[in-house]
Amino acid sequence: MKSSDIRKSFIEFFQQKDHKFIRSAPVVPIGDPTLLFTNAGMNQFKPIFLDESKPDHSRAVNSQKCIRVSGKHNDLEEVGIDTFHHTFFEMLGNWSFGDYYKSEAIKWSWELLTEVWGLDKNRLWVTVYKDDKEAYDLWLNNTDIKKGRVLWFGKKENFWEMGETGPCGPCSEIHYYMGDDLFNQSKEGVNRTDEYWELWNLVFIQNERLADGSLINLSQSHVDTGAGLERITSVIQGKASNYETDLFQPIIKELESSSDCKYADNPVPFQVIADHIRMLCFSIADGALPSNEGRGYVLRRILRRASRFGRVLKLEKPFLHKIVPTVCNLMGDAYPELKEKSTHIKLVIGTEETLFNQTLDRGITHLEKLMSSLKSSKTILGSDAFKLYDTYGFPLDLTELIAREKNIDVDVEGFHLEMTKQKDKARQAGNFKLKEKNIDWIELLKEKGSEFVGYEYLETNSRVLKYSEIEEGFILVLDKTPFYPESGGQVGDRGTISIEGIDLNVIDVQNHNDMIIHLCRGVVLDWSKVERVQCVVSDFHRSSVKRNHTATHLLHAALKKELGDQVQQAGSLVHPNYLRFDLTYFEKITGDQIRKIENIVNSQILLNSTLKTSIKAYDEAINSGVVALFGEKYGDNVRVVSTGKFSNELCGGTHVNSTGDIGLFKITEESSLASGVRRIVAVTGTAAIELFQNQADLIFNMQRMLNCKEEELPNRIGQLYQDKKSLEKKIKELNQSDDSDIISWVNKASKVGDYIFVIELLSIEGADELKRVGDRLISEIKSGIGVLFNNVNDKPSAVVVVSEDLVRKKINAGILAKEIGSFMGGGGGGKPQLATAGGRQFGAVEKAIISTEKLILKVLNKEL
Ligand code: SER
Repeated sequence: MKSSDIRKSFIEFFQQKDHKFIRSAPVVPIGDPTLLFTNAGMNQFKPIFLDESKPDHSRAVNSQKCIRVSGKHNDLEEVGIDTFHHTFFEMLGNWSFGDYYKSEAIKWSWELLTEVWGLDKNRLWVTVYKDDKEAYDLWLNNTDIKKGRVLWFGKKENFWEMGETGPCGPCSEIHYYMGDDLFNQSKEGVNRTDEYWELWNLVFIQNERLADGSLINLSQSHVDTGAGLERITSVIQGKASNYETDLFQPIIKELESSSDCKYADNPVPFQVIADHIRMLCFSIADGALPSNEGRGYVLRRILRRASRFGRVLKLEKPFLHKIVPTVCNLMGDAYPELKEKSTHIKLVIGTEETLFNQTLDRGITHLEKLMSSLKSSKTILGSDAFKLYDTYGFPLDLTELIAREKNIDVDVEGFHLEMTKQKDKARQAGNFKLKEKNIDWIELLKEKGSEFVGYEYLETNSRVLKYSEIEEGFILVLDKTPFYPESGGQVGDRGTISIEGIDLNVIDVQNHNDMIIHLCRGVVLDWSKVERVQCVVSDFHRSSVKRNHTATHLLHAALKKELGDQVQQAGSLVHPNYLRFDLTYFEKITGDQIRKIENIVNSQILLNSTLKTSIKAYDEAINSGVVALFGEKYGDNVRVVSTGKFSNELCGGTHVNSTGDIGLFKITEESSLASGVRRIVAVTGTAAIELFQNQADLIFNMQRMLNCKEEELPNRIGQLYQDKKSLEKKIKELNQSDDSDIISWVNKASKVGDYIFVIELLSIEGADELKRVGDRLISEIKSGIGVLFNNVNDKPSAVVVVSEDLVRKKINAGILAKEIGSFMGGGGGGKPQLATAGGRQFGAVEKAIISTEKLILKVLNKEL
């Protein structure tokens, strides 16, 4: 049976049992800050388990793309070394949301494994939680498993938790004996040795773990199961390793042909690369990009680990990007996003590995220098390892690897300390974000959920469902609301909510599961009397946002047209004053291209096409070429926003009626956001008009200042710049011509023995210039001392210079300057060859010159 058939048969089995197929959520999780990557099939159902949202169906089945790279559920360094752990894997799962429970879950899993897939019952083992007698009995009563094969285990093995917090409950796992000798099995091996593989986990979700560590009961019991497709495929296809199945073999074969090495001779590098390339393709397809932070850093580490293992196969040049088409073809039928984004994925991986190769070369040189400079300590300091990481992008594990080869340690703790310091510095004050768990709600009406009616209305009379007082003001949930909650990059609406004539200002609107939460400022004396409120969305705010949102769609389509289809939206902000659009693109967008993009958008505005919104089935919309965005999770039915044929996007936002309402579009900024990501900022409507008006004012003012016509401005400014440069040159020459004075000072200078000493009073602008003259003077004196007093703006100062031969005799310009400074009521200091003094006393110079003369004579006479 092919892996694709196994996936299909799992889904069909549960569909026949009334389960609704749910598409895999993106691997880059939406709306769950506690997760870096989607790490289990149940992630997308977490709000249902926690009673925060209601499911459309009480039974679900899917095959979920999962990534486990760190934390509770994986250890990256092990991946590829063994044959059954992965960074990316597919989790087949079936769910009951408050519907069936342990009995069906157990019966059906056994039926599928043993009857449909025909797994050998003499190899299957089952574990149950120590307190779960119900599950134990069900296994024995509902299935024909032998009694001795159902084993009790404790919390570590059989109480499944999503993470530090979240839904959890006792679980029952099905394990499979992978060994050759059936008679060599024993219950002691289960959960202990790698010969027994966990195939399927049935979790009976009935609790929630809170942040303080306590466990509470959920209002309903649910079923959450997960079976690794890779392991099931191995078992069904009779392979000893996941890498030998048809899920990995095409990738490995491709690597064999590009490397001239054989998988059988040295499997580990092949396994690491085959595993990691899948993780990279899937996460990049869902919008992740390599970077130095968070999720992006995980991608970078994985890519670098794969790249390093490539070197073991003598693949020195970038090679990972060449395997991308194989992965996309292999998995693209089940996950069409791979095929759709394959050019983009290839580009991102290719760029990143090229960059890494350069980094490797530079980093290795620096590291070698560092290691050879180590004396007896034989430990690379945490701060040095961090510098390698921060400056050269050199990962810690690579530093450790290379250091280990030379028996050198790395201070890992010190490295992490530096990393934390840097992160703390970078952490910015977060914006206001509602965390429902921290809100103490007062429920006025027991209904849940709010209806958004803001596509049609800007005003409503609404009933208050919940309210709460928080530090920033009040938060309110209403039965229906015209306020658009922040979503898909569009900021929340602003406006007022009035209660019996008293206005509260709505300063933010957020969506939390089915609740639209309004954050308001104002005064309400007695909430218990409030039942209904009057909502009014600011028309000005909404209209500005609408213009920018529709313009964002036009810009997106124009970018694809001008720069190519590989351009993907990597982020967006639709604000009333401007729009910001991040796109995946690897070069600077030139001025010419910007102009063309602006022209495309503005010509669409001039066409004044009517905006159409329609609700379509997701698959139908995607098949007809509608653009779906990275990392968004879409339901079965989606809202499609179209501007004629030019732009078709899945979008829940608010839009203008016709493109002409946008008025005008102008890009104001194009910059690089990260490697492979560009950022565009643009304005529309009144903001664009204001921009042109301000620019016109600026030009008019410049014309007035420079007394010329607009078209003459560039020449005039160019001329002024030239004039400035030639004047500067002249000043320099004039200063230099003053050097003739220096020669005359030296010629008429006094002498003590062969030593010359010069004391002069000048009037020079700028301390640097005085020092420069001092420098020139000593090169003329050759052997002796020079003191140049300067008196501009009644601030006396001096530079003291001493020739090298006298410096060797311990005559120090710094000490002389200090004393000379004191003659003027100030101080001084500097180097032995050149020092400066400054005084505070007005008119002190004349006296200081006399004292200095005496001082110098004394000093030089001593040297005779
Ligand atoms: N949530 C469970 C797991 O991840 C079962 O799907 O193992």
